Amino acid sequence: MQIDVLTLFPQMFEGPMGLSMMWKAQELGLLHLRLHDLRGWGEGRRRQVDDTPCGGGGGMILRADVLVRAIEEVRSGDEQPVILFTPQGRVFNQKVAAQLAQQEGLLLVCGHYEGVDERVRQLAITDEISIGDYVITGGELAAMVVIDATVRQLPGVLGAEHAAAQDSHADGLLEGPHYTRPTDFRGLQVPELLLSGDHGRIATWRRRQSLLRTRQRRPDLLATARLNDEERDWLAQRETDPQYPDA
Ligand code: ADE
Repeated sequence: MQIDVLTLFPQMFEGPMGLSMMWKAQELGLLHLRLHDLRGWGEGRRRQVDDTPCGGGGGMILRADVLVRAIEEVRSGDEQPVILFTPQGRVFNQKVAAQLAQQEGLLLVCGHYEGVDERVRQLAITDEISIGDYVITGGELAAMVVIDATVRQLPGVLGAEHAAAQDSHADGLLEGPHYTRPTDFRGLQVPELLLSGDHGRIATWRRRQSLLRTRQRRPDLLATARLNDEERDWLAQRETDPQYPDA
């Protein structure tokens, strides 16, 4: 997958995109990340990319002529989605990440300052994404969140074959608890079942823990999650949430 990023701060990407899974994805040739410094399209001797808002008011607005020219020059073709990061966009989640992971390429546009000239939206943006109902200083952190969540879904990026499919939210539910050694830590035990080697019962236990945890922490997710009748019955019978229910 090729991801182009238009930003005034390409250096911000170096740490997060140069380590761990995002580094590995690039090493494996699964992610081709190209960072483009918006300043390169700036106007005049000072390479100006922004200006004061028409009609007055504070803050600076990214110029339409600069941004649209940059997008047109960087975009690989008419099929490549051009995504603007803004708190006004559709709210990002695992489903959106899965949709983006189907694309061959993305062009991510990071706004900064007060915002971008409205005509950029009209002329060059195909999608707008928000990473949540709060305001951050620029689109760069949002872009990195979206890149990470999208790229880790590409086949071959994560080690274990189906690791991404088991993530919290992948099936609309939260994951249950995880444990590793020591089996006894400060009097808290790893549930016996997990040490039994009985993979069938362990899978059932994990699924049920996931159901319980989702009901406890994010009951809103249960309304749309895909549960079979047996799972719904089981959950309905579970009035309380004992810490380690038998599975
Ligand atoms: N830019 C500023 N705030 C943002 C948000 N919540 N999501 C995406 N981009 C942003």
